[in-house]
Amino acid sequence: MATVGIVGAGQLARMTQQAAISLGVEVVVLGEGSQAPAVRAGATLCPGRPDRLADLIRLADMVDVVTLEHEQTPADLLERLAALGYRVAPGAVAARLGQDKAEARAVLAASGIPVAPWVLTGDLAAIDAFGARHGWPLFLKSPTGGYDGRGVWKVRSPGEAAHLVRDSDRDFLVEPMIPIRHELSVLVVRSTRGEVAAYPAVETVQRDGQCHEVFVPASVPARTADAAHQLALRIADLVDLVGTMAVELFVTGEGLVFNELAVRPHNSGHLSIEACTTSQFENHLRATIGLPLGAPDLRVPAAAMVNVVGGPDGSDPFERLACGLAVPGASLHRYGKEARPSRKLGHVTATGSTVTIARTTAARAVAALIGERAA
Ligand SMILES: Nc1ncnc2c1ncn2[C@@H]1O[C@H](COP(=O)(O)OP(=O)(O)O)[C@@H](O)[C@H]1O
Ligand SMILES: [Mg+2]
Repeated sequence: MATVGIVGAGQLARMTQQAAISLGVEVVVLGEGSQAPAVRAGATLCPGRPDRLADLIRLADMVDVVTLEHEQTPADLLERLAALGYRVAPGAVAARLGQDKAEARAVLAASGIPVAPWVLTGDLAAIDAFGARHGWPLFLKSPTGGYDGRGVWKVRSPGEAAHLVRDSDRDFLVEPMIPIRHELSVLVVRSTRGEVAAYPAVETVQRDGQCHEVFVPASVPARTADAAHQLALRIADLVDLVGTMAVELFVTGEGLVFNELAVRPHNSGHLSIEACTTSQFENHLRATIGLPLGAPDLRVPAAAMVNVVGGPDGSDPFERLACGLAVPGASLHRYGKEARPSRKLGHVTATGSTVTIARTTAARAVAALIGERAA
């Protein structure tokens, strides 16, 4: 029986564990405690930290292949593990691009992937010059370590930029504000055998920089969705992907613009559990242990997913679980995490004959959990 090691024990590892049960695959997770979401779902815990080589080696010794659920393992350590003869999926090249937004832009632009103008700098004069050239506001981003909009700042003027940059000794990835019409994400899976599957492009909606809702089909022309699909396949080849990767793209008046990679299962792929022939989690396992991939295609005309997050006062919407479950057609997923403001605690997926029906059902269930009347 194959054993897969996951660095991280959160909800992505938990849903991978769920998929592992039907395949008869064992999952060992590297995490800090027995209350982690994946451990509570039956994965074996290997206690340790994601950024400590000795801990990674302990995990690798227990499993056939090491994979990731977050960006907290420096790519250099993955390289060291691989050099020691352990199987690592993704490899260091792909992982590095998922960890470093500037590196991803540099490498992918060199291969002809469309990226917005950008500069990596901590120098205020250079930021002001960039703003003068491309126009304010600008987006300043921490090139590494950011997620859910933490590490992204919209700055409206040189004064605001000065305020942000003065307090920091790091470089920022600086971009113009892109006139985004839609945000898309394409999940792509590539196996140790070189087999590739790309999911249909989904549309994502952010709130305060954090993914709020995902739906499919995306509300873009079919040729735009196809172009996104093709771009993701090209990037999977370019980075020599093994495992699952999300490619985040902006749709603008001038076409698609690359935003970022997440080289692991991703929030934008959760609806694949109900909506697709094979979920991103099952395909991630299949890919990393060299089993044939399952079809990524939609089994339903449309689907939508809405994240369930902790209330502003730290309250847990799942205290009203019964109210959410009372909404017909909604599938609830609870991660077993302690509530904190804005923390992702679970999600709701709904499928339907149209995207409007699916979105309405999912929104209604989330409203019921929160205790609001659905819009
Ligand atoms: N240059 C930009 N112009 C306009 N909106 C942006 C820009 N960069 C990011 N955003 C918005 O902020 C969100 C989060 O940015 P992203 O770089 O994807 O950070 P994270 O790693 O937190 O997901 C994006 O999904 C998008 O809505
Ligand atoms: Mg993002």
